[in-house]
Amino acid sequence: MRILSGTQPSGRPHLGNYYGAIRQYISLQTGNEPFYFIASYHALTAVQEPELLRDYTMGVALDFLALGLDPEQATLFAQQDVPEVTELTWILSCVTPMGLLERAVSYKDKIAQGLTPNHGLFAYPVLQAADILIYLSDLVPVGQDQKQHIEMTRDIAGKFNQQFGEIFTIPDPYILDETAVVPGVDGRKMSKSYGNEIGIFDEGAVLKKKVMSIVTDSAPVETAKDPEQSTPFLLLRLVASPEETADWEDRYKAGGLGYGEVKKRLLKLIDESFAPYRERRRELENDPDYVMDVLTEGGRRARTVAHEVMHRVREATGLPTTYRS
Ligand code: TRP
Repeated sequence: MRILSGTQPSGRPHLGNYYGAIRQYISLQTGNEPFYFIASYHALTAVQEPELLRDYTMGVALDFLALGLDPEQATLFAQQDVPEVTELTWILSCVTPMGLLERAVSYKDKIAQGLTPNHGLFAYPVLQAADILIYLSDLVPVGQDQKQHIEMTRDIAGKFNQQFGEIFTIPDPYILDETAVVPGVDGRKMSKSYGNEIGIFDEGAVLKKKVMSIVTDSAPVETAKDPEQSTPFLLLRLVASPEETADWEDRYKAGGLGYGEVKKRLLKLIDESFAPYRERRRELENDPDYVMDVLTEGGRRARTVAHEVMHRVREATGLPTTYRS
């Protein structure tokens, strides 16, 4: 199965990103043919500071490699290393009805958030369709919020195939398990836009401050408490063993438990669980050549597939090139 997914480079990843997506990408790498790319062209719709975009892009590569992506099993690359994807975007644009894009929820959301839309933001789903289709992907693991984009991709692929012949595979979404919605320090869903996140690579005083600031109710120590309603518990069960989790659950229900105690243990567990990844990330930061080599090789592999598909697309649409490369 050819699996494909993209991650926008837009800052440091948090525990919600890890449990909701990255961890699952990494477990899918075995036994499949995954293509994971850094969606830098998509990020450009919002991040327009070159230094920042470059740093964020390298950052995603470091994050994924540190968290266990194996470049032997998965093809990791930067979107701009396959510029053909923008060519395909144009061709797909010409079979994409305006109405389809006007119905895009994520576009409407971003406008509602007060973003001044550029054309790239409007055309974003067509670029995403090109990303997916150019590698003839079978399966696209994404969060629930991307479901509509995958449906649009299927629509666009269908329109193209109908008009020009069966070139594209119609991909299926693989909706990632987000049932373990990770709460942020204020109890709402962990999200950069709420500023309530705990970073995967946070450590020391920064990590401590965040964990200790987790919002709890003001129930007195002696009261019995519902663990399912308590942010420190919901985070703790992500990092603690099942036995330890069950133990804390009993103590919540029995009463006599102070939230400070849970937070201290949570801090220790987060700190310990992610220490090896922090270590690995530091090693990789000191070896930028290695990271670049991974991206270069990933880009080469991705381009090989994209070249072949684009050749067929050009022929099918009546746009054969007149030169040989
Ligand atoms: N839009 C996706 C997001 O914000 C990122 C993305 C770009 C993507 N291209 C993709 C995801 C192709 C899956 C497949 O999360």
